[in-house]
Amino acid sequence: MKVCVIGLGYMGLPMAALLARAGHDVVGVDIKPDVVDAVNAGECPFNEKEMPDLVAKAHKSGRLRAALAPEEADIFVLSLPTPVDHESHVADMSAVRAGVKSICPVLKAGDLVVLESTSPVGALEADVRDVINTARPDLADAIDYIFCPERAIPGDTVREMAENDRVVGGLTPEATTRGVAFYQTFVKGDVLPTEARVAELVKLVENASRDVQIAFANELSKMCHEVGVDVWEVINLANRHPRVNILNPGTGVGGHCIAVDPWFIIQQAPKATPLMRAARAVNDSKPEWVLERVREACARVMKARADTNTKVRVACLGLAYKPGVDDLRESPSLVVVSELMRVKDDVEALVVEPYLTRHPDYTLVGLEEAVTQADVVVVLTAHPQFYAMDKALLSGKELVDPVGLFKNI
Ligand SMILES: NC(=O)c1ccc[n+]([C@@H]2O[C@H](COP(=O)([O-])OP(=O)(O)OC[C@H]3O[C@@H](n4cnc5c(N)ncnc54)[C@H](O)[C@@H]3O)[C@@H](O)[C@H]2O)c1
Repeated sequence: MKVCVIGLGYMGLPMAALLARAGHDVVGVDIKPDVVDAVNAGECPFNEKEMPDLVAKAHKSGRLRAALAPEEADIFVLSLPTPVDHESHVADMSAVRAGVKSICPVLKAGDLVVLESTSPVGALEADVRDVINTARPDLADAIDYIFCPERAIPGDTVREMAENDRVVGGLTPEATTRGVAFYQTFVKGDVLPTEARVAELVKLVENASRDVQIAFANELSKMCHEVGVDVWEVINLANRHPRVNILNPGTGVGGHCIAVDPWFIIQQAPKATPLMRAARAVNDSKPEWVLERVREACARVMKARADTNTKVRVACLGLAYKPGVDDLRESPSLVVVSELMRVKDDVEALVVEPYLTRHPDYTLVGLEEAVTQADVVVVLTAHPQFYAMDKALLSGKELVDPVGLFKNI
């Protein structure tokens, strides 16, 4: 089948390449010319395991190419950004609506339109079908619509996209059946049929569930600190109970899924969701709590010093929102680092991020150099490179470790 994938980002491009590998004729569309040029040169424009090889092979096979505008196809897949407005906490569906409008001129009767972007309940009807029906009243009832949320994890996207179970919800039973058959052409996991509104909510609930569970761990870490008990030991021992599985506390919650998607639920049912709102508040407050621990450590360093004119050096380990990736979106580490940079008369922050070669705002420092120079070491992201370092370097330093990386040394 000919498939047009709109949006060639972290999710859209792997999907396009996997579809090409499965034998479909794929044209990927993006508004960014550099993305289109990269794909047409057989290159992946971002850092993701297996992607360089997958895109190169798909391009070489002649089944994957990119363009700036949509073309006629049998199936259209919308993989567009759905951020949340940071003030109002309302989902911003403008990119999806723009992408939908862009396919209207080339749509024809019998096409299948798929929304993959994480969206509020009802978006497939309101932001996709209704937009198409307004622009193309001639196609009312002539298009099939399905929602299929993306579940792949950055860092292992290709494998997860091919192997994870998928949920497909159509606006009609016929659309669902057609959608299931389409996903079965390239997904090895089970493809589970349902209706559109259920599929939309399933995706949001998955991430809200993670957010609430992480909030519990983060709240525990704060309360354990107050009563002077080691949170990691508490969690390890509590998790030996056969039906308890407490997650790890950390610097906060980042990434553009778990920190964002719960708001899509809260916005639609504010009175019914006090727990999800509280979880968001707990997780958002964690970077400030980490900062407080860093300030205390700096104060101890200053107190022990004769020379109070020298700045306290703080090695900040990790900008990414989670271990093993270069993704800084919504990263709680950035809250900590930007505040330490702001108080630059008292503190010199040495920023380490092994997954980046440079950063627009911060000069990056090598791990050993930063730790050797530092008075205080704060571990913001549990990158494996940090765990692998010579632990003797930490001797005599103040260590703030909200992610528990050095818990056992
Ligand atoms: N990245 C993840 O880990 C992940 C996981 C699950 C779900 N999702 C969801 O998948 C969706 C896409 O996320 P992503 O991470 O791939 O986003 P992204 O920002 O990496 O990619 C989106 C792409 O769409 C392009 N674009 C924007 N407007 C366009 C338009 N009108 N026409 C054509 N292209 C346009 C952008 O230039 C960009 O390249 C979001 O709803 C996200 O919440 C993402």
